[in-house]
Amino acid sequence: RPRVLSGIQPTADSFHFGNYLGALRQWVALQEEHEPFFFIADMHAITVEQDPRQLRERCLRAAAQLIAMGVDPERSAIFVQSQVPAHAQLAWVLQCLTGFGEARRMTQFKDKSSKNGEGAASVGLFTYPILQAADILLYRPAFVPVGEDQRQHLELTRDLAQRFNHRYKKTFRLPEPYILKATAKILDLQDPHAKMSKSASSPGGIIEMLDDPKLSAKKIRSAVTDSGSDVRFDEEEKPGISNLLTIYSALTDRPVSELEEAYAGRGYGDFKKELGEVVVEFVTPFRDRTLELLEDRATLDEVLRSGAKRAAEVAERTLADVYDRVGFVPAP
Ligand code: TYM
Repeated sequence: RPRVLSGIQPTADSFHFGNYLGALRQWVALQEEHEPFFFIADMHAITVEQDPRQLRERCLRAAAQLIAMGVDPERSAIFVQSQVPAHAQLAWVLQCLTGFGEARRMTQFKDKSSKNGEGAASVGLFTYPILQAADILLYRPAFVPVGEDQRQHLELTRDLAQRFNHRYKKTFRLPEPYILKATAKILDLQDPHAKMSKSASSPGGIIEMLDDPKLSAKKIRSAVTDSGSDVRFDEEEKPGISNLLTIYSALTDRPVSELEEAYAGRGYGDFKKELGEVVVEFVTPFRDRTLELLEDRATLDEVLRSGAKRAAEVAERTLADVYDRVGFVPAP
């Protein structure tokens, strides 16, 4: 079975709708027909300052949320990045293959470092995409399910894989990004020109999966909508309504055209109220399940322990090939 791999940063207490609809839902779907590796990117998280206690807690919350949304620990290796040292080890080798200018072109670094000036950003933030390339290439996956904002990192990953294969010997598989067009970029509810983001969105702009469901329904009802009154999908003229239609359609599996018909002539108020109800119905069981799992630390620890073990077996084999090919003397 072809492998899939993806990761998520534990930088908030809760995942949000962008994470879920853009990526995590595809993790759940793809685990059926693939050999899945899914991890919590704690090493990426420390590229900006984190509170140590909170970081540890958020890793467990991330694991609980993944299981609650349907990532099956029997089928999928769920693990914490820092527990598989091969990630850091391969990242070094790949850094030595990356051009400085090439790394500088990564738009996420430009965005994230522009706030306080480049000089204040850590070198880790700069080399972040290269660690991500290592995360991916170690597992030789066929697909990497992510949102649109990760596309450039996937392109760098493929470039580095090709460069290594060419310079040494074919070692890495070129991974395909798995980005579903309809949900690749979920927008901020208060600013439908920006993506929904844990670092940039205002509280009203972001729906957190573990929020009180009533609060989430309220955020939907107060989402910024566009002038006019018909519920119609039009990203140019009606980005706010289009974003809500995308969310509605994804949560119910009803095509956008069917929703447009169902709400024809009924106005925004009805539409947002009913989407609020859909959201409550969806997040309530998810939230209950997550909170239940968080009560059982022993099980979470065991899931992460066995996940790291399965991951390390694969990752160490790839790393051994890499070390051999670059000419490192074998360890005794
Ligand atoms: P992160 O933690 O920012 O986000 C996790 C996943 O959620 C997707 N996403 C979105 N999709 C659609 N609309 C949005 N508004 C939205 N916001 C976030 C992201 O695209 C991502 O798929 N660098 C990665 C973590 C990572 C990784 C990896 C991913 C580290 N190593 C290896 C894949 C493979 C990140 O920061 O994702």
